[in-house]
Amino acid sequence: MNKHHRPRRLRMTDVLRQMVQETRLCPADLIYPVFVTRSNPGPIDAMPDVYRHTISEAVDIARRAADAGVSGLMLFGIPQSKDEHASRALSASGVISDTVEAIKNEGLNLVIITDVCVCSYISHGHCGIVHDDVVSNDETLPVLAQMAKIHADSGADIVAPSAMMDHQVHAIREKLDSSGHEHVSILSYSVKYASSFYGPFRDAAGGAPAFGDRKTHQMDSANRLEAMREVDLDIAEGADLLMVKPALAYLDVIHMISQHRPHIPLVAYNVSGEYSMVKAAAKQGYVDEASVVLEILTSIRRAGSKSVITYHALDVARWLQKS
Ligand code: PBG
Repeated sequence: MNKHHRPRRLRMTDVLRQMVQETRLCPADLIYPVFVTRSNPGPIDAMPDVYRHTISEAVDIARRAADAGVSGLMLFGIPQSKDEHASRALSASGVISDTVEAIKNEGLNLVIITDVCVCSYISHGHCGIVHDDVVSNDETLPVLAQMAKIHADSGADIVAPSAMMDHQVHAIREKLDSSGHEHVSILSYSVKYASSFYGPFRDAAGGAPAFGDRKTHQMDSANRLEAMREVDLDIAEGADLLMVKPALAYLDVIHMISQHRPHIPLVAYNVSGEYSMVKAAAKQGYVDEASVVLEILTSIRRAGSKSVITYHALDVARWLQKS
């Protein structure tokens, strides 16, 4: 045994540990999700400290996020009413369009990303047009493409399709390019698992399916290799950024994609269930919120994601500024 080697030497002081730190977390790594509504603002029971916001509150949050150095906002719309055609998702004066315009008018240093899916706008809560209880992939594509175009018309920098329909990136890219939005990027929710960690989000956005589940389009949590297929199809269809969602239970998937497709920026979504579990444990005093959150987000970055979408973003930016 060679007794000259002592890994503890480099751990002796804060500044030494900082010097050899392999992964750093900074506010620019973070994207903050925001729920916007005209009809029912207020707290979300299943997500402590997260709110359904009015448009003017969303503008205030955008200013705070930009001041804190957070890179972007991910906007989710909650419409006044739902119907079978998701009409409010296709209205040029919908809640998301108006929010994007209002934020863009502020001229902030902030990337505005919009979620593109019909589940919060459609009466049955599925991610697409339903026939005979089945989500019709190809009938849903033009709806997603139109929704993305409307978001781009109002000034979105990035559209993020989350419906897990096959060919959705292609349909959206064609639509954006033919309507003068060649410079609007697509962040594809490429690898989105059929996960129980979305429970609190469905409470927030009112998008739980009225019947059945999302297993015919979202991925089976038992599968890893299939993620490469989803990623490669999305890259071929023109995705600019890729996403893995949820994050914490899927660090192996994040790692695999970052190793094999390192040329496309990878974003991980630290989803509602991951957030609410930490908040609940912290409230009980079982864990220290700030240190657990920083450890989780650093681990998601260490696994290989470039950015993290997280409901903790504003708190983390504040903690990082203080430290
Ligand atoms: C919409 C969508 C969902 C989430 C993001 N976009 C819900 C779902 O697919 O059921 C979940 C986000 C979260 O849990 O924080 N399709």
